[in-house]
Amino acid sequence: MADQVSQERIREHVVRLGEQHPPIALDSVDRRVRDPRAVAARYGHVIDYLARVELEVDRNVLELLVLLPDVSEVDRMFYADVWQPQEIQHGLILDRLQQDLGRPATTPELDVSMKMKVMGALAHFSSIQDIARLLYYLTGASTERQAVLAYNVIHEGMMGMGEGAIAETIIAPIRRQEPGHFAFYRMSATELVQSGALRPWQLYLARVLREKTYNLVGTNGQDRYKAQIGGVVSALGFDADLVKYAREVGRIEAQLLWAHEQGMEFPPYVLAALRESIDLYRERGFGD
Ligand SMILES: [Fe+2]
Ligand SMILES: [Fe+2]
Repeated sequence: MADQVSQERIREHVVRLGEQHPPIALDSVDRRVRDPRAVAARYGHVIDYLARVELEVDRNVLELLVLLPDVSEVDRMFYADVWQPQEIQHGLILDRLQQDLGRPATTPELDVSMKMKVMGALAHFSSIQDIARLLYYLTGASTERQAVLAYNVIHEGMMGMGEGAIAETIIAPIRRQEPGHFAFYRMSATELVQSGALRPWQLYLARVLREKTYNLVGTNGQDRYKAQIGGVVSALGFDADLVKYAREVGRIEAQLLWAHEQGMEFPPYVLAALRESIDLYRERGFGD
C-alpha cells in the first residue's frame, strides 16, 4: 500500500508546483528544426495527438466543474493555478511545433458530452460526488503517467535525431511539469481511500464504473481516437511489451481500488484498452 498522505501534504505539494513551475512561455522555445520532414514522418501524428489532448484541458476543467459541484479548495487551487495554466501552454507549444513541421493545426474537442452532464446531475448527491472524485483522481493519475512515459521516449528520440532544440526547449520543459501532476492525483486518490470516507458500496460502484468507462488518455471513448492512441503507443515502442506498459499505467489504481485482489499488478481493463487501441490502429491506421 502507498504511504500515508494527509490533506496538508497535498496542499503543500500544490503550492510548491505553483511556485517552482511557472507555465512555459511560448517565446522560451527555440524553434529551430534540423529536418522537419523527418520529424513529421516519425512523430507528426504523436505530436498532433498530444497537442490535442493538452489543449482539451479547457474542456476537462468544465467537466470537472460539472462533475464536482462542491470542489474542494485544494482541488480548485490545483486545476486553476497549476494544471490548466501549465497544460494549455503545453498544447499551444506542441501545436505550433507541428505547424512548424508543415502539419495542420490540431482540432481539440471542447464541448462537454451529454454523458458528463448526466454524471454531473447525479454528482449533486454527495455520496455520488465522492465516487466521482475518486474516479477523477484515478483518471488523472493514469493519464498523467501516460504523458510522462510518452515525453520520456520522445525526448530520447528527438536527441537521437539531432533535434536538440525540440528536445531541450520543448519536450524537456514539458516533461518536467508532468510528474507533479501525476503526484497530485496519486496523493489525492490515496488520501481519499485511506481516509475511510468511502463506504464499501461506494468503492464497489467505483470499481464497476471504472471497469466500464476506463479510457486511455485523450480517447474520449471514440473509436477514431482509440485507433490514434494505438498509433501513438506503437510509434513510441510501448507495443513491444504491453504488459509492462499496462503495469506502469495501472499500478496506482491496482493498489488503491483492487487491493483485495491479491497480487494484481494492474487492472485487466487497462491492458484490454491498450489491446483494443492497437487492434483498431492496425485495422484503420491513424486516419490522416
Ligand atoms: Fe501536459
Ligand atoms: Fe499533465
